[in-house]
Amino acid sequence: MRVLVTGGAGFIGSHYVRSLLGGAYPGWEGARVTVLDKLTYAGNLANLAPVADHRGHTFVRGDIADARLLAEVVPGHDVVVNFAAESHVDRSIADAGDFVTTNVLGTQRLLQAALEAGVRTFVQVSTDEVYGSIAEGSWDEDAPLLPNSPYSAAKASGDLLCRAYARTHGLDVRVTRCSNNYGPYQYPEKVVPLFVTNLIDGRPVPLYGDGRNVREWLHVDDHCRGVQLVLEKGSPGEVYNIGGGVELTNLELTERLLSISGAGWDMVVRVPDRPGHDLRYSVDSGKIRSLGYEPRVDFGEGLAEVVQWYRDHQEWWRPARRAASVSSVPESEQGEPWTHPTFR
Ligand code: NAD
Ligand code: TYD
Repeated sequence: MRVLVTGGAGFIGSHYVRSLLGGAYPGWEGARVTVLDKLTYAGNLANLAPVADHRGHTFVRGDIADARLLAEVVPGHDVVVNFAAESHVDRSIADAGDFVTTNVLGTQRLLQAALEAGVRTFVQVSTDEVYGSIAEGSWDEDAPLLPNSPYSAAKASGDLLCRAYARTHGLDVRVTRCSNNYGPYQYPEKVVPLFVTNLIDGRPVPLYGDGRNVREWLHVDDHCRGVQLVLEKGSPGEVYNIGGGVELTNLELTERLLSISGAGWDMVVRVPDRPGHDLRYSVDSGKIRSLGYEPRVDFGEGLAEVVQWYRDHQEWWRPARRAASVSSVPESEQGEPWTHPTFR
């Protein structure tokens, strides 16, 4: 089996590649994996270091929006799993251009290349954020796409192109829509690694708005097992939500991170809210559970392990923080420290 993993040097894609080549998915031990990754600020070859010398692994640096390159790279693969994306909401608010180029045009070019190369199955790794924000209840896969950020709008556009290639061309495309991931190797701009690395350095953590926004958390290993299950047992043209069932307000998440890190609420500062900040995400995972899916990682244990991973791998994240200046709260945005009981 030859598998093309795009975005395989990023947080989730690299976990998938390490798992696949590491033998985590029974029956796929002999798979040969090509990673195609542009190595943007979020891509890092160090994420693939554990499998760099694996004989089944080939790395190609390149852009999924480069049709000429795709015509060379895609043929010969049985499967494409597309993790490649611009993935950070705050960056999409600052400048959405790269999000449209990669998440929309890149997805279309990859679909087209897969169609022309006779790829058997294409898995599009999408996000629950395409559904928008839900105050109560959970979205199933038939919920309308009502994205609110440029990131989620670009991801939703990619999902619609997947649908179109399945319906129009009969390409076997399966879409997964997962909730928020946490785990090792996550770039320290997302809330968990940003807060953890700030606390390691004794710096305050910036909590947006009133902290009452709710996210559903899933360990990256459970996400990747879900993607693999959809590849193995899903149906062509179908969409599968992947959720963890662990819903927390950002206040609750922050409290857990402070507690694991041995810090107090004096380390939390109020900063202005994110524009268009979605209040709550929550997916109904019944469809993928009917394929046999079950998250395995206990949230409390998984989060504690992740905090320890960042303590133990400072050589991995310190260069990223220096490069992106994500390490501290700008003076101009610092507000009053939170006092825990008042805000629960
Ligand atoms: P990430 O930003 O850590 O990694 C993205 C990877 O894609 C990087 O290696 C980057 O170099 C590569 N890339 C970007 N543009 C590219 C291009 N044009 N061509 C080739 N490679 C390119 O992102 P992540 O958190 O690992 O997310 C992976 C996928 O999972 C994304 O599609 C994202 O939308 C989706 N997702 C993420 C989460 C989450 O919580 N992080 C949750 C649900 C779904
Ligand atoms: P994030 O990790 O950016 O993921 P997403 O926006 O894709 O859900 O943010 C998770 C939540 O944490 C979101 O509600 C915004 C909030 N947040 C903060 O309060 N402070 C921060 O510095 C960041 C990055 C996020």
